[in-house]
Amino acid sequence: MKQAWWKNAVIYQIYPRSFCDSNGDGIGDLQGIISKLDYLQELGIDAIWLSPIYRSPQDDNGYDISDYQDIDPIFGTLADMDELIAEAKKRNIRIIMDLVLNHSSDEHPWFLEAKKSRDNPYHDYYVWRDGTEGTYPNDLKAGFGGPAWEWVPECGQYYFHQFSVKQPDLNWENPKVREEIYKMIQWWVDRGVGGFRLDVIDQIAKEPDRRITADGPMLHPYLKEMSKAVFQQKELVTVGEAWSATPQSALLFSNPDGSELSMVFQFEHILLDQQPGKEKWDLAPLPFVTFKKVFEKWETTLYQKGWNSLFFENHDLPRSVSRFGNDGEYRVESAKMLAVCLHGMQGTPYIYQGQELGMTNVRMPIEDYRDIELLNMYRERIAAGYPEKEVMESVYAKGRDNARTPMQWNAEENAGFTSGTPWIKVNPNYREINAEAALAEEDSIFHFYQKLIRLRKELPILTEGSFTLLLPEDPDLFAYTRTFGTEELLVLCNFSDREVPCSLKKDWEAGEVLIANYDGGASDSLRPYEACMIRRTK
Ligand code: GLC
Ligand code: CA
Repeated sequence: MKQAWWKNAVIYQIYPRSFCDSNGDGIGDLQGIISKLDYLQELGIDAIWLSPIYRSPQDDNGYDISDYQDIDPIFGTLADMDELIAEAKKRNIRIIMDLVLNHSSDEHPWFLEAKKSRDNPYHDYYVWRDGTEGTYPNDLKAGFGGPAWEWVPECGQYYFHQFSVKQPDLNWENPKVREEIYKMIQWWVDRGVGGFRLDVIDQIAKEPDRRITADGPMLHPYLKEMSKAVFQQKELVTVGEAWSATPQSALLFSNPDGSELSMVFQFEHILLDQQPGKEKWDLAPLPFVTFKKVFEKWETTLYQKGWNSLFFENHDLPRSVSRFGNDGEYRVESAKMLAVCLHGMQGTPYIYQGQELGMTNVRMPIEDYRDIELLNMYRERIAAGYPEKEVMESVYAKGRDNARTPMQWNAEENAGFTSGTPWIKVNPNYREINAEAALAEEDSIFHFYQKLIRLRKELPILTEGSFTLLLPEDPDLFAYTRTFGTEELLVLCNFSDREVPCSLKKDWEAGEVLIANYDGGASDSLRPYEACMIRRTK
C-alpha cells in the first residue's frame, strides 16, 4: 500500500487574522495569504491549516461560526477561497480547513430558530435542560469563564455552552445535526480542500447530566460514522484537537485502518508547566524530565499502531522559544534547538506562523489584549482579589494573544503586516525579527526549518524509525535515537543556557552530522541550547 502523503509532510498553521492584510483594514485576509504562498513554498511545507475563515461574529475570532458555507467578509469571499485553493495547489500545497463542530455561533440560523421555542424544528439541534431562571441545571463551568448554562426565557430552558455564551454546543445525539454536518463537509471536499482540523473534537459527545464533557462514550462511534461518511476519500488528512487524549485513546483516533482520523493533537506536554489540578494560568516551572518521558510514551505507544502530531505552538499557546527556550541572548540557538527536538520525532510536524522566525511572546498593557479567554480570566481574577502583578505574569506567560500578534514580514511600519491599524499591536521586536531579514540570512531560523523539512523528505528514518529515549533522568539534555533497519539517528538537544558535559557526541564521532545549530566545538560537551542530528550505519 502507498504510504499516506501526510506521513512525511510538514503542515504550516495560519491564523488568518494575523497573517497578512491585503486591503489595509488591519485584519489579515485570504488575498494576504495568497500573496505569501511563494514564501511558504520556499519554506517547503506541504499543507496549510487555516484557522477558521467562515462567516462569524468573531466573538472567539472565528471559532464561533454563523455560516459554515461562506467566508467572513473580513477575510474575503468564496471566490478568494477558490483562488487560494487553486494557487496553493499550483505550489503543491494543500489547504486544510478548521472545522468547528462542537458548537456554532449563537447567530447561526439554526440557533436563531432553536431559541424561539421548544417546538421549533431546530430546537433539538442544541443541548437544552429545563430549570428555573437563576438555578443552573448543574455546576459545569464554561471554558471562557462563568457557568456552562445560559437561560432563554422564550423556551424556559438553559442551553449548554462549553465555551462562551455565544458558542452554544451542538447536539450530536440528533442524527439530523450529524447529517447536516457531513453534507457541509462534503461541500468543502468538493471545492478541493485537502483535509480538516477538527476543533475540540473530543468534546462533541457530551453528556452534561453525567458531567461528561470530553471523551464521552459516543465519541468514537460518531467519529467512525463521520469518517465513513466524508473523510475516507481523496487522500484527505484529518487531525482532531483532543485535550483529553491519552496514548490509549489516540490509538483509536489515529488507527492506521483509517476508521477515524489521521491523527490527533494531544496536549500532555503542553499541560506540564502549570500547578497540578489547577488552570494554565497557575504557573509552574517545566518538569523537564517528565516532559521527556511524556514524549517517549507517545512516541513508543503509537509506534506502528497510530500516528502522532508534533507541535510546540499554535494560536492558543505561547511562543515556544519564550516558553521552552530562551527569547533573550539565545533566541536563535534555542529556536533551532526546539526545531531539531521536535522534527527528529515520528509524526507529522506542525509549524505555527512565525515559529520559523523565532517570534516571541509579548508584554503589553492589559488594554492592548484582545482575546476573550484572557480578558475574562483577567476580570475574574482581579475581582477575586488576585494581585494585578500576578495576573499579568499569567497573561505574559500563557495568554493566547502571545501567538496572535501580527506576523512579522519586514522592518517597516507594522512589520509589513498592514498599511492600516492592526487589530492587535505588533510585537515591538519586529525590526530585528522578521521574514525579510530571515530570508536574507543564510544561517537564519527560517533556513534551518527549511533544511529540517527537506531532511524529512529525504530520510525515511525520520518517518519510519523507532524511538528510544537516552539519558532519561538528565536535567538538561533531551537525547534520543531513531532506528530503522541498519540505520540509526541521534538527536541531541541541550535545553539549558549552560555548557553541559555529554559523551554522546564522542560515541557518534564516526557518524554524519545532518544538521546542527553551532559549528564544530568540543566533542565532550554541548554549548547553551546546542542541538544536532547525527546519522550512522550499524
Ligand atoms: C479550540 C480552539 C480555540 C477555541 C476553542 C473553542 O481550542 O483552538 O481557539 O477558542 O476551541 O472553539
Ligand atoms: Ca484585510
